[in-house]
Amino acid sequence: MAKINENFKDLKESYLFSTIAKKVAEFQKENPDKKIIKLGIGDVTRPIPKACVKAMEKAIQEMANSTTFKGYGPEQGYEFLRKAIVENEYKNLGIDIDEVFVSDGAKCDCGNIVDLFSENNKIALTDPVYPVYLDTNVMAGRAGKYIDNKYEKIIYMPLTKENNFIPSLPEEVPDIIYLCFPNNPTGTVLNKEQLKVWVDYAKENHSIIMFDAAYCEFISEKDVPKSIYEIEGAKEVAIEFKSFSKTAGFTGIRCAYAIVPKEVMAYDKNNEKIGLNKLWNRRQCTKFNGVSYITQKGAEAVYTDEGKREVRENIDYYMNNAKIILEGLKAKNIEAYGGVNSPYVWLKTPENMKSWDFFDKLLKEANVVGTPGEGFGPSGEGYFRLTAFGSKENTIEAMERINKNM
Ligand code: MLT
Repeated sequence: MAKINENFKDLKESYLFSTIAKKVAEFQKENPDKKIIKLGIGDVTRPIPKACVKAMEKAIQEMANSTTFKGYGPEQGYEFLRKAIVENEYKNLGIDIDEVFVSDGAKCDCGNIVDLFSENNKIALTDPVYPVYLDTNVMAGRAGKYIDNKYEKIIYMPLTKENNFIPSLPEEVPDIIYLCFPNNPTGTVLNKEQLKVWVDYAKENHSIIMFDAAYCEFISEKDVPKSIYEIEGAKEVAIEFKSFSKTAGFTGIRCAYAIVPKEVMAYDKNNEKIGLNKLWNRRQCTKFNGVSYITQKGAEAVYTDEGKREVRENIDYYMNNAKIILEGLKAKNIEAYGGVNSPYVWLKTPENMKSWDFFDKLLKEANVVGTPGEGFGPSGEGYFRLTAFGSKENTIEAMERINKNM
């Protein structure tokens, strides 16, 4: 008799963004004439840069010719892309090509990395948090039971306006610490000094930091690190995740990468140090056949002069939307955070409304979709996330509707 992984029974009924999509689809079905503006899931709307299109077209032609055709590529990614990543993202940060692992998404990497760790590891998460870190650890049996809005074995590190969205070091020492900065969902950042506190803490306690830097290109302020490896010592304790999704519009094309430095070690049951780079390589070679050549050629073109210019234009476009959202909320005296170094704006719900109630109100009265803070964790209650990834026209209209209806 086939038995299921019992841990799945500890998950919430559905993934946050699936729940929202279902609610929105139901509302649309009942109200077919309403034009809904979606500022919920952080999905981009601008087309991919022309530089990427050209490179991918060329790559398709190569695939069509027997002399240039390519079958399976290296599981870790083609050298041309890994080299471009090292030269452009990690210049002078001491990252080697064989520490770069190209993948089909930072979401997948963040989810898959848990394969490397024992079920007994203690996990610390900021709260609110990108749900993938939590749910994948629930699936792996590290979370325990869900009691009073929390998993009993998870260490929750609140990010609220009271602590300026800066997580405090936990009382209980975790083995694995997830940090995402610029933060999803709050849109807030840590400066170098604040991030150093975590690197030092991880070193002292032999913990590993999973650093999700998917939104690093949206950073506009000085002293905010774009990579955790800007912090001294981070190469010994941190794995970093980055993506082409939000920068080059690859949410549908799929390309990202994980940096697993050779110095990052975890321990076996005999307390022997084991390098995670080797383990991750082993895992990827077994379970993954790499990202398509065409996609990787497209990703490489992100680093051409033309690609860089176009990516910058896209980011500026989205950050202008973030400004529109922030100004709109300010005009309504709604407290808001983020939106300066990140495409996410995190607002305090008016009159302390519950975040799902605010979601329903916004959907019904303004026909605007956002993401309820509570969906990201208990400390997200009373907050709400809007994304700047819509079109400018829709963003302006959404703010006008919020202004009129809220
Ligand atoms: C989000 O809305 O939080 C993101 O789109 C999630 C993701 O990138 O998977």
